[in-house]
Amino acid sequence: MDSIHIYGGNLLKGETRIQGSKNAVLPILAATLLVKGTCIIKNCPRIADVYHMQNLLQELGCLVSWAGNTVTVNAAQASDNRMSGESVTRMRSSIMLLGAMLGRMGEVVMSYPGGCVIGRRPIDIHLAALRKMGVEIEEEEHMFTARAVRLQGAEVKLPFPSVGATENVILAAVLAEGTTVLENAAREPEIAALCEFLAAAGADMEGIGSGRLVIKGADRLHEVKYTVPADRIVAGTYMTAAMAAGGSIFLEQAPSNQLGALLKAAEEMGCCVTINKEGIGMDVLRRLKALPYLKTEVYDGFPTDLQSPMMAVMALADGQGIVEENIFENRFRVVGDLVKMGADIETVRNKAYIRGVEKLTGAAVEAEELRGGAALAVAGLAAEGRTVIKNRHFIERGYEDICRDLRDLGADASIG
Ligand code: UD1
Repeated sequence: MDSIHIYGGNLLKGETRIQGSKNAVLPILAATLLVKGTCIIKNCPRIADVYHMQNLLQELGCLVSWAGNTVTVNAAQASDNRMSGESVTRMRSSIMLLGAMLGRMGEVVMSYPGGCVIGRRPIDIHLAALRKMGVEIEEEEHMFTARAVRLQGAEVKLPFPSVGATENVILAAVLAEGTTVLENAAREPEIAALCEFLAAAGADMEGIGSGRLVIKGADRLHEVKYTVPADRIVAGTYMTAAMAAGGSIFLEQAPSNQLGALLKAAEEMGCCVTINKEGIGMDVLRRLKALPYLKTEVYDGFPTDLQSPMMAVMALADGQGIVEENIFENRFRVVGDLVKMGADIETVRNKAYIRGVEKLTGAAVEAEELRGGAALAVAGLAAEGRTVIKNRHFIERGYEDICRDLRDLGADASIG
């Protein structure tokens, strides 16, 4: 149980539709707290992290219901201001409720999210930015209380363009008194999605999609209907599946304008990519050439969330390559299992040295986190024989039904 079984070694052939974006919908769900009425969110992925956010909103007093992939949230009665230790540690991105709860309730008592297997993930940047906006924060060993009688617009410059801190500042700023100018904001597309949702609800925002956001505080937001954009990381994962296993696939809704770094790498390695307004097509008809150097960076550099799936691709490419991880300090945990499947990878600090092998062999492996787990599925599709990936639940945090999607793409994948 809780596993995925893949019989690999066959070329992929088929098409699938890309689900809504996890990293966009989570802050958008947090933002519904700022609307004293009903928000209708379409194309919401049915994934574990979204269900967890739903539970948190319900604990705070929101009414949440589903119909297909549409979620309706009514936050009119939300009133609780405590977030327990377990809620926060189960999903680190619960931290993005901090800015929204400050905007709505003015006070939050929350546990520290703590680290996770991919890195320490502190929240110092979030807290320093919120302090600038008039938030008083009392820190205890495991909990902190954040309080603002009235949130104040401020000039905030982030020391690093943290995605979560950018989202928290935005969420705190939309109902603050005065104008917030946020410099060195993260430019990940999911932040633009959050801003578009808030603008549709009546927030006054300039600079959407850029590193400088100007947000004029509004008195209130109004009810809104919004469609979540497609998930670039899911699309990217399935592209790496074709790159590793070979074949011809089409990814409906895949956002090519957000996948520039991966598309560039794919073409350099020898993939044939076709882009049209319906999505992305990829033909991989021969063994790919190694990519000499790949480093993860903030958007629009190569995304850290695709680094592990890409390592599975590079494990099979012709030649040697280096992958440098610059965002999270502990994101090579999947290497042990890739080596077990026959890959030749050595890691030294934040670099992985990969010598491409001609084949991988199916094995019993274990997902330890979301994207590393997806990388094992990518490797399993390319490997000869059967791969059993334990701890499927990590993968289900971000992929609605990875086996269904991979079967659409011609793979032999099932849950077990
Ligand atoms: C978000 C994404 C995640 C993605 C990451 C980087 C969501 C739900 N998650 O995570 O999928 O991999 O962006 O694109 O959207 N840091 C600090 N102090 C802080 C905040 C961050 O040191 O206060 C560090 C982190 O430990 C990490 C780096 O900055 O090493 C990047 O973190 P951040 O951009 O905040 O990522 P998340 O929002 O956690």
